[in-house]
Amino acid sequence: MSAMRRFAARLRFVTPARPTHTAPMSVVLPAACAGAPSVDDAALDVLAAALDQRDPDTDAHCGRVSQLAALLGTHCDLGPQALGDLALAARFHDVGKIGIPDGVLLANRALEARDWDVMRTHPARGERLFLATAREDATRVARLIRHHHEAVDGSGYPDGLRGTQIPLECRVLSVVDAFDALTSRRPYRAPMPARAAMRRLGEAVGHQLDADVFAVFERLLSRVQALPV
Ligand SMILES: [Fe+2]
Repeated sequence: MSAMRRFAARLRFVTPARPTHTAPMSVVLPAACAGAPSVDDAALDVLAAALDQRDPDTDAHCGRVSQLAALLGTHCDLGPQALGDLALAARFHDVGKIGIPDGVLLANRALEARDWDVMRTHPARGERLFLATAREDATRVARLIRHHHEAVDGSGYPDGLRGTQIPLECRVLSVVDAFDALTSRRPYRAPMPARAAMRRLGEAVGHQLDADVFAVFERLLSRVQALPV
């Protein structure tokens, strides 16, 4: 097993176990977020349960991305509150997909332009869902959810923010979101090895991804790579 594959396996290991449907759902956030406001919140449990029932693969992806985002965020000079916001935003970044019709969300085909128009509504849908929790941090976290598909060259959505107009938390989220999307199994393709995924992400630096955040992620991977398994 290559070092990068071992790293990917380690990431899987730290992903919280998926709760069974016979037990209460709970939102598990990374230990790095210990200073964040309490996540013992029924509204979050409802959101997580709803996303899991709508699309278990998306819910699992959000759980992994939350873990990765907290790990990367701790190396990107984010304070405790920002880390907590980031972990929560990552956990629910795709919750707006609850509102995407089956014909688009679960399509087993390449999406057409009109399908993408629908799919691109999920950040704003997620923003509205998280605001409905009425949590103390709802405004901050919902803003991060809204902007998780912005791109540093301004080609992202929904607002076409560019560079540092995009919150740092979102630039962190973009890197780990893309990494998990490539390295996890999808119905239509096998998981990409971590090294190949990093090459692919490197091609998106300066367009979709922030160069500094990507460099931190690369260094983080190389350090983890050196650890014994
Ligand atoms: Fe998304």
